[in-house]
Amino acid sequence: MSPLENDTLLRALAREPTEYTPVWLMRQAGRYLPEYRRTRARAGSFTALMRSPELCVEVALQPLERYPLDAAIVFSDILAVPDAMGLGLSFAEGEGPRLAHPVRDEQAVARLSLPDLSALEYVLQAVRKTRRALAGRVPLIGFAGSPYTLACYMVEGAASDEFPTVKRMLYSRPDLLHRILEVNAAAVADLLNAQIEAGAQVVMLFDTWGGNLSAHGYETFSLAYSRKVFASLVREAEGRRVPVILFTRGGGSWLEAMAESGCDAVGLDWTVDPRDARRRIGARVALQGNLDPAALLAPPECARSEARRVLEAFGPAAGHVFNLGHGIGPKADPDSVAAVVDEVRTYSRKIRAAR
Ligand code: CP3
Repeated sequence: MSPLENDTLLRALAREPTEYTPVWLMRQAGRYLPEYRRTRARAGSFTALMRSPELCVEVALQPLERYPLDAAIVFSDILAVPDAMGLGLSFAEGEGPRLAHPVRDEQAVARLSLPDLSALEYVLQAVRKTRRALAGRVPLIGFAGSPYTLACYMVEGAASDEFPTVKRMLYSRPDLLHRILEVNAAAVADLLNAQIEAGAQVVMLFDTWGGNLSAHGYETFSLAYSRKVFASLVREAEGRRVPVILFTRGGGSWLEAMAESGCDAVGLDWTVDPRDARRRIGARVALQGNLDPAALLAPPECARSEARRVLEAFGPAAGHVFNLGHGIGPKADPDSVAAVVDEVRTYSRKIRAAR
């Protein structure tokens, strides 16, 4: 494998000093890019795109052709796992994901089992091929959904604002939800380990819905299972640590617990003050974030000054990876993305040099 030409991300995740703040963007490959929309049209649908390793490589590299980003992320989706469990994933245009066979009762939970990794071979192919195509330019990030976030979709069967079916199960039959979470934790650990073996140099757990829980619920139904995943991961590959990032949207109240969960970095959403986060968790882990993705709806100069504000809030200390506070939306302005990435590069160099 080619040696890494730019390991800024890996050094920042290890809280080692870097010349500038590394930057990548959650959902950096996606609908805000016209070239992504063209590739998806060629594939016929999002699910066809996701299942084609060649096209996954193409779209994973698209944002790197436009912007000097410090990482690539494998192109896939967190819902590949429930799909591999036989739950039947589809995306209705404009409606988000749907699972044809949601897991809502005792019988369905009893039938649930660990997916065979061969059903996720297309994801691993995408990892191998993307890693090869990168040829050492930047590190490749692998990912999965958290056990709880996957359970939200698996029980509800679709995206939802409040996930009422999940919450009803949580309060009336917690035993069923725990069983689903056990299976998910094992499936996610298997998939992430397989991604690491296939060449992922960092892995990230997306807990997009953990923030809909109570404080007790977050510990019991989300973090406890993310911890199990972290405990099962192979943390070294090719002679280097494989750092793990945990992102919980709406998790600002629980940063200390997240920092103690066994991850190397905590992703902050845009509601958290980075100074406050650093004060609360000290230097235990690196921090990733946390520009409001909505800043990318504004013209480039406005987005640029918001990026500067985020950099100032994190300060010049080691251990910051610049990112958004959640995934980039389809209406983001590609020119505003360019301005943000440029500002991170230039301004973070300046504040480090002035130290
Ligand atoms: O560059 C990248 O990060 C792309 C890889 C990626 C995708 N999904 C591709 C995708 C990643 C890391 C994800 C994670 C994901 N998927 C999450 C966690 C992160 C988050 O944003 O909260 C979640 C909750 C999903 C589930 C999902 N997939 C939803 C709710 C949707 C539809 C609505 C939406 O947010 O886009 C998807 C579809 C999806 N996954 C798209 C992409 C590029 C858009 C599909 C399209 O092209 O129409």
